[in-house]
Amino acid sequence: MRKGDTVSEKPLENLVNEGQTFPPPAEFAAQANGTADLYDKADADPEGFWAEQARTYLTWSKPFTQSLDWSNPPFAKWFADGELNACVNAVDRHVEEGRGDKVAIHFVGEPEGDTRDITYADLHAEVQRAANALADLGIGKGDTVAIYLPMIPEAAVAMLACARLGAPHSVVFGGFSAEALHSRINDAECKVVITADGGYRRGAPSALKPAVDAALDHGDTSVEHVLVVRRTGQDTAWNDRDLWWHEALEKAAPTHEAQAFEAEHPLFILYTSGTTGKPKGIFHTTGGYLTQCAYTNAVVHDVHRDTDVYWCTADIGWVTGHSYIVYGPMTNGVTQVMYEGTPDTPHQGRWWEIVQDHKVTILYTAPTAVRTFMKWGTDIPAKFDMSSLRLLGSVGEPINPEAWLWYHRNIGGDRAPIVDTWWQTETGAIMISPLPGVTTLEPGSAQKPIPGISAEILDDEGQPFTEAEKVGYLVLTKPWPAMLRGIWGDPERYKQTYWSRFGEKYYFAGDGAKYDDKGNIWLLGRVDDVMNVSGHRLSTAEIESALVSHPKVAEAAVVGATDDTTGQAICAFVILRQEFVEEADEPGEGKDLVQELRNHVGNEIGPIAKPRSIMIVSELPKTRSGKIMRRLLRDVAEGREVGDVTTLADSSVMDLIKTGMSSE
Ligand code: WT7
Repeated sequence: MRKGDTVSEKPLENLVNEGQTFPPPAEFAAQANGTADLYDKADADPEGFWAEQARTYLTWSKPFTQSLDWSNPPFAKWFADGELNACVNAVDRHVEEGRGDKVAIHFVGEPEGDTRDITYADLHAEVQRAANALADLGIGKGDTVAIYLPMIPEAAVAMLACARLGAPHSVVFGGFSAEALHSRINDAECKVVITADGGYRRGAPSALKPAVDAALDHGDTSVEHVLVVRRTGQDTAWNDRDLWWHEALEKAAPTHEAQAFEAEHPLFILYTSGTTGKPKGIFHTTGGYLTQCAYTNAVVHDVHRDTDVYWCTADIGWVTGHSYIVYGPMTNGVTQVMYEGTPDTPHQGRWWEIVQDHKVTILYTAPTAVRTFMKWGTDIPAKFDMSSLRLLGSVGEPINPEAWLWYHRNIGGDRAPIVDTWWQTETGAIMISPLPGVTTLEPGSAQKPIPGISAEILDDEGQPFTEAEKVGYLVLTKPWPAMLRGIWGDPERYKQTYWSRFGEKYYFAGDGAKYDDKGNIWLLGRVDDVMNVSGHRLSTAEIESALVSHPKVAEAAVVGATDDTTGQAICAFVILRQEFVEEADEPGEGKDLVQELRNHVGNEIGPIAKPRSIMIVSELPKTRSGKIMRRLLRDVAEGREVGDVTTLADSSVMDLIKTGMSSE
């Protein structure tokens, strides 16, 4: 530890070995929304329990009479005869109930001093105009709208305006490339794209609109109009289909009467990586999704509307931003912080400065961020007053105990409980997590399914077990309100992907898991070919297909190798087409080619998908049936002794690869 650190003298390494647990502080427990009796209530009657949450957290235009309809598994319906409007729940009713002056969003732009406070009344005015502007462009119930924006309040307004009209939105993360945007727009047949000239990242404006132009220049598009938010003011090419967002909103009527939609009306589509090269359009509906988002935001994040300042650092382009920036917290009428930029701009204490300035009480972030801050050093957060923080959250990948303890001490002041929340794009909302006022925390484990959720661990034969330390597959055993309702346009793939590995009774999450001797669940990472890089989900197949789309590449294999900061890192092994092998062998050429291939993947998918390393090889290790043995490549990528090679068709291949490695 460095001199001058204000934390206790006990070295972190000792704590890690102690297996120390953290009971809820009495003061916290006394005010917590999530109480122990919820577990018993939910166990006794899960469907009744969820119906009660749906009535507690939401305003229904037409009350429902039925909770779950599971007559056609795996296609669930929740609260199906009820009607509501998601935007009215997230915005209008707070204004109607007299909370219009309450700040909904403290927006912090990346450029210093670029801040804006937006009240619920402001949001209400904006969503009405935005809904009218979209309606003027022909958007109505069932039309799909793509949203490709930086982290600015307009992103939330755009989503809510779509919801208001019953038009499912498909938000594409601003870090995705034109190619990725193109395939997502086409798969969902979007009629309108909402984008911006650009956003601020790492101290400079970064253009977004050119990617939309490139995506639509393919000519095969369903898109009729592009609405462009002016954020950076940078020069922007203009087409006939383009309209400025501020002009369209100014022209639109100021009031919009929201219509109620069936609880099962699709709210949004969100693409995520699966085990094949083609991303899946996960779609969620309205009533059940909102119920679980609002309930978990209350009992897990413990938000108290009148006193908390909540901050979820995720991008709105991921499911975490959907559920825990927009739909959960806004339905609960919470005041939150939204930050546009990177954590080290203009200095590495930017986040902690924001916590100090806005007296943030609840912070929800990802382990990869925590590990980055650990590397930057404890003296950075120590410079700021973060005594307002009373709860911390983690999501996206397992948080290793060392990072947990660092987070607890240096950010949470040894005082704030940490909720390690396991869930997925598919589950829509938090599934496994401590309740911060009830659970004795076990660093590194997400612990127990929350009240209302049931999970089990199965062995290879599909048998549930409870023995400690035995590794198996995590499954969910009962339908839950926020569950995905399918893959957009592909019900067969939905059944195949999630409900076939262990039969129709079990939702297969794709994660390995084990119990400890106290019955806590420990998540052990993906068991399929899905990688988790800085909490972002990428499939090996998707990156392989990007690599082989390059004219010089004949074959590619991609593995995720353990990485101290990002969790996993992408490592590619590439076989070149014959005519390019000699070129690559010339002195200095290999490096250029590797750079060219990395950039190519960046263009095909986005910068987050660029491999950390690319190795040019002459062969790949394959079984006799032609399946690539990734396990062996992972050994190479992680610098281990290569494991058992007896099932390889040609056992000398690994020697070739290792020789190539050492001559790099
Ligand atoms: C996968 C889902 C949940 C929103 C962000 C990621 C991993 C997520 C945890 C956690 C261990 C976790 C799983 C899961 N994951 N949270 N607390 N502990 N693993 O959503 O992109 O759909 O990825 O992220 O492997 O299957 P996603």
